[in-house]
Amino acid sequence: MLPGKLAFVTGAGGGIGRAVCHLMAREGATVVAADLNLNNVESTVADLTGTYAGKGHKSYQLDVSNTESVSSVLKQVFTDYSAPPTVVVNAAGITRDNFMLKMSVEDFESVFNVNVKGTFLVTQTICKELVEKNLSGSIVNIGSIVAQRGNKGQCNYAASKAAVEVFSKTVSLEMARYNIRCNTVLPGFTVTPMTEIIPDKVKEYFKSVIPLNRFAESDEIAEVVTFLASEKSSYITGTSIAVSGGF
Ligand SMILES: NC(=O)c1ccc[n+]([C@@H]2O[C@H](COP(=O)([O-])OP(=O)(O)OC[C@H]3O[C@@H](n4cnc5c(N)ncnc54)[C@H](O)[C@@H]3O)[C@@H](O)[C@H]2O)c1
Repeated sequence: MLPGKLAFVTGAGGGIGRAVCHLMAREGATVVAADLNLNNVESTVADLTGTYAGKGHKSYQLDVSNTESVSSVLKQVFTDYSAPPTVVVNAAGITRDNFMLKMSVEDFESVFNVNVKGTFLVTQTICKELVEKNLSGSIVNIGSIVAQRGNKGQCNYAASKAAVEVFSKTVSLEMARYNIRCNTVLPGFTVTPMTEIIPDKVKEYFKSVIPLNRFAESDEIAEVVTFLASEKSSYITGTSIAVSGGF
């Protein structure tokens, strides 16, 4: 689905980002994997198949919330590959859960810095380069189903993911004239390190109210991300696709 494409994936050391890297590599893309956690992103890349001769898959340590880090890492990527990535997946994300009455300003801000500002910085930096080089592209941002319904204990996270969704819609409007598409995938509860910390009792409750009665596997999210990244979705932009088991 992605032959010859250069794909930049953030959060590539985590559950969903790693699954996206694996699927995109299998589908013919050269994967540029970035994460704050260098060990994890290196291990993602070490397991990838389908490396292109000469310019293979590579990992980079990146803090998406840090302007300097985004600027210098992407500059390096543009140099290393002599071109900007035309597929971008913003999967880096964090939770800092607490009830609204107990939520600290620090936890509120840190979630917005990674989830919203990070998505903005990466998207803006790559889009500038694509526009300058007259290249089309596809950006896929990872939102969350809780952005559409709220979730107790996650006022910061749910609001940040709603921001990601409307940010993506706006990017799609502004970038359409350059043939750069931008869409959002809204995962429901997915089996990854992020959800490992949810207490079993709460997990069982959510499974009982999810129509498909289970959490998603990361691969099921990666399939939809890869479809949106590929030419198979060439007429889809500015939309959100829920992958939430009906939740
Ligand atoms: N797991 C779920 O149930 C679920 C549901 C809906 C949406 N999501 C979203 O999917 C995305 C991937 O989540 P996941 O479940 O794979 O979680 P995860 O914790 O396994 O992966 C997230 C990755 O982001 C990285 N990261 C954190 N801060 C970063 C920063 N400042 N710069 C760069 N990388 C950073 C982490 O190191 C980690 O590898 C996130 O945006 C998350 O909000 C997850």
